[in-house]
Amino acid sequence: MMKLQQHGVTIWFTGLSGAGKTTISQNVESELRRMGYSVELLDGDIVRQYLTKGLGFSKADRDENVRRIGFVANLLTRNNVIVLVSAISPYRDVRDEMRDYIGNFIEVYVNSPLAVCEQRDVKGLYKKARAGEMKNFTGIDDPYEEPLYAEVECKTHLETISASTSKVLNKLEMLNYIGLKYSVQANKKS
Ligand code: ADX
Repeated sequence: MMKLQQHGVTIWFTGLSGAGKTTISQNVESELRRMGYSVELLDGDIVRQYLTKGLGFSKADRDENVRRIGFVANLLTRNNVIVLVSAISPYRDVRDEMRDYIGNFIEVYVNSPLAVCEQRDVKGLYKKARAGEMKNFTGIDDPYEEPLYAEVECKTHLETISASTSKVLNKLEMLNYIGLKYSVQANKKS
């Protein structure tokens, strides 16, 4: 059987809680799977139940969380998997460290104003943070450092989920990681 070659890459979604990282990364994941690509999604909320269980939200712990995620992302990327990482990853220096470490790296800034994220408050955590029931909450009493050179920016308060998803897929195509017109699935049939 002919083995189809795909190139590994890590697509790193960063942004505030409630900005839409999980939603967009899940949409990109299912589109890529539909096209026949090998994909893995490392989502902060899930990873923190296993790989990084026990870590908190101090800078040191968040950096450790990001580095462990990056370690796994690197292993998968070098084995030609398309890796989607979805984590607040609020510190620019460690994100840049992951970019240098992994190499094939696309940063997606899921950018929604704090006021909008707070308005959505999907998990009810902003309310708790405002009430002082949660400390060190990103955007409230903990920093978020915006990317300076993200390859993609999704302004989720201004564009649809499908528009944001397309932006990411188009960037992948532009950088030759995928072929949107001639997907792996389509190639398989020829
Ligand atoms: S990161 O900063 O280390 O990258 P990560 O994305 O893994 O964060 O986890 C963020 C999730 O943890 C949020 O979506 C939220 O559900 C939960 N959470 C709990 N405490 C905090 C906090 N202090 N700041 C941000 N998110 C928190």
